[in-house]
Amino acid sequence: MRILAIETSCDETSAAIVEDGRRVLSNLVHTQIARHQPYGGVVPEIACRLHLEVLPGLLDQALSEAGATWDSLDAIAVTRGPGLASSLLVGISAAKGLALRLGKPLLGVNHLEGHICSVFLTPGNPSPEDACPCLLLLVSGGHTQLLRIEKPGVCRVLGGTLDDAAGEALDKGAKLLGLGYPGGPELEKTARGGNPRAVEFPRGGLRHRDPGAPLRLDFSFSGLKTSLLYHLRAEPVPPSGARLADIAASYQEAVVDALASQCARALEAQTASDAPPYRSFACVGGVARNTVLRERLSALASAHGLPMLLAAPEYCTDNAAMIAAAAYLCPCETGNFDATPTIPLG
Ligand code: KG4
Ligand code: ZN
Repeated sequence: MRILAIETSCDETSAAIVEDGRRVLSNLVHTQIARHQPYGGVVPEIACRLHLEVLPGLLDQALSEAGATWDSLDAIAVTRGPGLASSLLVGISAAKGLALRLGKPLLGVNHLEGHICSVFLTPGNPSPEDACPCLLLLVSGGHTQLLRIEKPGVCRVLGGTLDDAAGEALDKGAKLLGLGYPGGPELEKTARGGNPRAVEFPRGGLRHRDPGAPLRLDFSFSGLKTSLLYHLRAEPVPPSGARLADIAASYQEAVVDALASQCARALEAQTASDAPPYRSFACVGGVARNTVLRERLSALASAHGLPMLLAAPEYCTDNAAMIAAAAYLCPCETGNFDATPTIPLG
């Protein structure tokens, strides 16, 4: 099954061709970061205009890099949400047009299912059958969720953020520190060599159980950002050099620690329950590129004797290959591989 996928939910335009949900024939990503940088964040109107400019060329390139023809495709997949409405519309319109013209099925994919399936694109990672049930931490710019994955497309939410997402907390923290956009990678660079224990920032993790209900493992990052704001106001001079590295490292540590602590609680809660045990532990989404987080979670996985599933860095941030993987692997949303488009064409 050869799927061409399109992803335009935020500030990356991407087209990919993937076979049987795992073999990536091409995966082109055009990032708009430089165009949004002057504004310190994504400007939706600029994002959708750029998707419109770039997508047609990217589709041709995805086809030629894969050595594929239009006729050889079995289906067209596209991110249907969540994301910026005007940006999504560009990808969905292009996908609808292609599906109609080629007479192929059109498969609408949830962006978060895409992130979840990104781990299966990395050669060497086990198949979904061998990896599930899997404890999965999804950490992107817009979402932070802890999930029990029974199989692709079937999961239970163990916890989520009550306010900012982890990526958003890193982006906002970086902005307060005067670093560039997107803040996550800038913060990681600035934090290198800094002392993660120089400043004690609050850890936003909440454990909560209503009588008779399963344990909730939620996150909260808005207090952390406010704490950085007050901390910076109290500094005698705006921090730079080694002091800036210490503050960045401490802030990054607070985010990583909050994420890892909830994962540890989820693994411990599982050990004490009679649900079938996890067979792997995974982390996906843009923040999963962070080296400190990758190392911390990998140590946790090995302490619990579980394989750690991480996507290759290029599959952590937004890309169309993960959308093709989800279109193939998630039967509940996109199992209908007949000629009926899953997105109404009206
Ligand atoms: O998954 P993604 O590409 O987009 C969304 O679906 O939101 O994630 C983007 C997020 C941004 O918040 C960005 O700062 C963060 O991922 N990010 C990182 C790193 N690279 C990207 N955060 C920490 N360390 C990184 N190396
Ligand atoms: Zn994403």
